[in-house]
Amino acid sequence: MTMIEKVWAKARRNPRAIVLPEGDEPRTVQAAAIIRNEHLARPILLGEADRISAVAAGINTDLSGIEIVNPTDSPKRDAYADALYELRRAKGLSREDAAKLAAEAMYYGMLMVKLGDADGLVSGAVHTTGDMLRPALQIIKTKPGISVVSSSFLMNCPNRALGEDGLLVYADCVVVPCPTAKELAEIAVTAADTARVLCGIDEPRVALLSFSTKGSAKHELVSKVQQATTIAHEMAPDLILDGELQLDAALVPEVAASKAPGSPVAGRANVLVFPDLQAGNIGYKLTQRIGGVECYAVLQGLAKPCNDLSRGCSVQDIVNTVALTAVQAGA
Ligand code: ACO
Repeated sequence: MTMIEKVWAKARRNPRAIVLPEGDEPRTVQAAAIIRNEHLARPILLGEADRISAVAAGINTDLSGIEIVNPTDSPKRDAYADALYELRRAKGLSREDAAKLAAEAMYYGMLMVKLGDADGLVSGAVHTTGDMLRPALQIIKTKPGISVVSSSFLMNCPNRALGEDGLLVYADCVVVPCPTAKELAEIAVTAADTARVLCGIDEPRVALLSFSTKGSAKHELVSKVQQATTIAHEMAPDLILDGELQLDAALVPEVAASKAPGSPVAGRANVLVFPDLQAGNIGYKLTQRIGGVECYAVLQGLAKPCNDLSRGCSVQDIVNTVALTAVQAGA
């Protein structure tokens, strides 16, 4: 079974309600029908029922059995507006603006998840990453003990000698532009959790990456990674983790033997933590585009799972992201 087949199997064992705020977007409509047919989750489409039905008819998709909720005339809209007002009044949000926002599908969907009317959310076929992330950060917030939301990419490499039978988890490639040492440590610990939950990796081995291995270079950027490694050890003493390591020292046993002898991670890392977003975002795209590696992205550190899509996503990407979200919700 491939990694994503295992995720589908896990999602089926414990189907969750996943809200799709972009409910009248054709790829999303088509994905909802596949999710229902494959029993991966209980999809909820947000939007005007007539419009969604017209989109479905236009692509020959049967939506029977799929819940459709229109935020603008939902009986829950007032209660959601109250909840949003309570969450954001200290930040200057008025009751009137809370009511307006609660009628917007993205906010309504986040409030469904916050208040337990859905278990997770998937969006981003139309909205940008920032448009989806901001309400998630404001409403869903972080898990207890975690202060920063970040992301992991699950990289399914054809070279099975790498990582965990070819699986590598990369973090953070989407969210935190310039993490502090403490934030980097949190990203390392949450990425290890993602590796366990979504990739079934029982023993995450986490490398905090740098352009230096074990003091081979001196620079404030290297010191930050060293400090993050120390903090991550304190946060999760049982986690197998090491830094700072260059990418080759993290992945290649022969390089590890000469550059980082005795490291519990070097040469056998399955979770790679990039020092900042420039490195992480470029790193995953290099692997994907030049290495031809299949990859799946998830957000981590949120109190409840919400995941972002690329605006160029396919129907299959939406289906897979819903399955990943359902598994995160069940963890
Ligand atoms: N974790 C937890 N909370 C956060 C985080 C975080 N990573 N970032 C911001 N917040 C909180 C803030 O504390 C603030 O909370 P408050 O309003 O309760 O005080 C709230 O979220 C909003 O913060 P802002 O600073 O106003 O939000 P900002 O405009 O900086 O947006 C965002 C945050 C969207 C995450 C920003 O950092 C960003 O744009 N990151 C890069 C996204 C991106 O473009 N990625 C690459 C492309 S995606 C791809 O290639 C797949």
